[in-house]
Amino acid sequence: MIQLKEVKHSYPRPGGETLTVLTGVDLTLEQGDVVSIVGPSGGGKTTLLNIIGCLLKPTSGQVVIDGKPIQSMTERELARLRNQKIGFIFQGSHLIPTLTVLENIMLPVWLGAGISARSQQLRARELARRFGLEDRLNHLPHELSLGQRRRVAIARALINRPAILLADEPTNDLDPPRAQQIADILFSLNQEGLTLLLVTHRWELAQQAQRCYETKDGQLQSVEVWQKENIAEAD
Ligand SMILES: Nc1ncnc2c1ncn2[C@@H]1O[C@H](COP(=O)(O)OP(=O)(O)OP(=O)(O)O)[C@@H](O)[C@H]1O
Ligand SMILES: [Mg+2]
Repeated sequence: MIQLKEVKHSYPRPGGETLTVLTGVDLTLEQGDVVSIVGPSGGGKTTLLNIIGCLLKPTSGQVVIDGKPIQSMTERELARLRNQKIGFIFQGSHLIPTLTVLENIMLPVWLGAGISARSQQLRARELARRFGLEDRLNHLPHELSLGQRRRVAIARALINRPAILLADEPTNDLDPPRAQQIADILFSLNQEGLTLLLVTHRWELAQQAQRCYETKDGQLQSVEVWQKENIAEAD
């Protein structure tokens, strides 16, 4: 469903220089896969998720989604793809501080077109109930705990029934029980058929995936479970 071929990315720097972050990433994600990515800070994990989530165009290489190269899509098609197919849990949640929990969850519905907001509001309430937020619907993000904010971000990512969920450090800043609670939610969604790409620095979460990769020199290197000591040291 998603294929990356020789994806490279460099950011422009002042003075005409560039910072090369990805030097050639190949990755295939099929429906129902659960894949984790670990690696040092600054290794390009968020950059890679942004490219897969069609938020950032790679400098070169191919990103193919459902058989179609995204380079050939118009901005309108890309926006639709992002809104309908891809759920994104951003590093640090990125909730809108002036919107309530319910409004934050509903945001992708308002940004999308042609969907009945009424039935989506029922879905938003259902997701909030599932994630233990039913009595927080009218609260603002600053009135929530970190774990609750993370659960709002997950609900928001799921509201449009995406096929793939991209989760960037979804358990960051949480203590181990709360981190596991978030992980349990994500893995249960995968059990229901959602494709999951999880960026994490927690090895105990990363190893629960079917496949695990580490970012190294701008590429993805496959990691086996027996290599976990290496990861712990690298982190
Ligand atoms: N918009 C940007 N413009 C310029 N440089 C950027 C931009 N975004 C990221 N970078 C640089 O690219 C490199 C990779 O950043 P990225 O956020 O992808 O790393 P990461 O692996 O997600 O790190 P972390 O674990 O700290 O979240 C870093 O050196 C960062 O400074
Ligand atoms: Mg990051």
